[in-house]
Amino acid sequence: MSSYYDIDFTELSLRYPELSRHFIADTNKYDLNSNDAIIDLTKAILDYKFNLKINLNKNKLCPRIPNRLEYLKFIKELPLQSKQNDELYIIDVGTGHSVIYPLLGCRFFQNCKFIGTDIDQSSIQEAIENVKLNNLDNRIKIYLNLANDDFFNLSKYGLMTNVNDVNNNIITICNPPFYSSLQEIEAKKTAKFQIKKYYSPITQNEFVTIGGEYHFIVKMINESLQLKNKITWYTSLVGNFSNLELLVKYLKQNNIPNYFVKALLPSNKFKNNKVTQRWIIGWCFHGLKIRNSIIYKNSPNLKKFNQINEFNIPLNSYWDLNQLIETSLNKLNYKGELYRIDDSKLEIQFPGNVWSRTFRRKFETHVNNRHPNDNDHNDNNDDDKDVHRGAVKRTKLQLANDQDFTIFLIEMRKNSITIFWKYGFNYKIFESFCGFIKRLVDG
Ligand SMILES: C[S@@+](CC[C@H](N)C(=O)[O-])C[C@H]1O[C@@H](n2cnc3c(N)ncnc32)[C@H](O)[C@@H]1O
Repeated sequence: MSSYYDIDFTELSLRYPELSRHFIADTNKYDLNSNDAIIDLTKAILDYKFNLKINLNKNKLCPRIPNRLEYLKFIKELPLQSKQNDELYIIDVGTGHSVIYPLLGCRFFQNCKFIGTDIDQSSIQEAIENVKLNNLDNRIKIYLNLANDDFFNLSKYGLMTNVNDVNNNIITICNPPFYSSLQEIEAKKTAKFQIKKYYSPITQNEFVTIGGEYHFIVKMINESLQLKNKITWYTSLVGNFSNLELLVKYLKQNNIPNYFVKALLPSNKFKNNKVTQRWIIGWCFHGLKIRNSIIYKNSPNLKKFNQINEFNIPLNSYWDLNQLIETSLNKLNYKGELYRIDDSKLEIQFPGNVWSRTFRRKFETHVNNRHPNDNDHNDNNDDDKDVHRGAVKRTKLQLANDQDFTIFLIEMRKNSITIFWKYGFNYKIFESFCGFIKRLVDG
């Protein structure tokens, strides 16, 4: 069994005999059209592939694993504010009785703890049992919330003992109730609900919330505007394409500097060709970016919802990294801090658009106006010799405010250069740097 999708049902049923009763006699195919069959299969796969035991309530949502796995795999790609010894916490809003994201997450993330919350008292009890069943109480904590409570009550979860404590990386995830009413579900009559009589009977909390997913996520955004960097990334699934535009608009209106929208692969393998499409929306208040190429994998049609952070420059002639550094960066008055990752990759930090004429003038004025005994002066001489120290002095020189501080990753290939805007807030600086490098290599 190479992937979740390639399930060898025969092999699985030898190991989990309870699956045998779900095979259709004539065709010997596994019958996915019953709630019991889905539950038994989900339990078998969680045990077989992830060594997870789980009790699933027949009256509640049975979690489909593929898109939950995809969500978690993607979360792993999100860049963190790198403090190596800090712990990663993931808050799962609406963890459900299956507590599926934290359980799977414990298999995916090495040094990560989970907080699962829910408003459903009975689901909370079942979730606690499922955590105990796997001896994961030391990594997963479950909290009952009330519908009007904050989603991200950090002090209640023991995550924020000090109000200024931003040392931990915290990511929030959520599979929200998507609908505003049972009538909306009926009206939409999606593939999922047309066959719902065969699937898990749903409880209202799981699918319905006042105002639907849009209001649910807007509430998250509003809370994030208070908490800002105390949480590293805020994310949620979105089930309705038309909400993406509205949510991105809301993020922009609130000047949230960094956001993305990513599509999950449609999970159709499990549902007799009935396709369910979900998206992930995410935002943060720091400057770390998730690369466009990761976002656009399987989601090329989402460009209009995303901020550009990668730029590709075709090369007319061969260039290598040394040549690029020699020709451009070393000649700048105020050098960035350079980290050569390997022969073809370079990371540079700049306090602002140091390649621009305006910046050069500011720099020269600053240098000329300094007192000879000023420490900065000595530093500047060092700076001329040592290209690696440029960014260290950004605070001393105060040539740019932090909003202009930027990190680029430059990747040289045979026929092209890719510039990835790894960190920053000022898009104009990224644009201007791409123009600077393009003019240079175009000669
Ligand atoms: C679609 S279910 C997701 C369950 C589980 N995470 C999964 O993926 O299978 C949504 C869950 O959110 C919970 N929920 C609804 N409103 C909530 C709120 N305000 N705070 C926390 N959880 C909530 C529901 O009780 C339900 O368990």
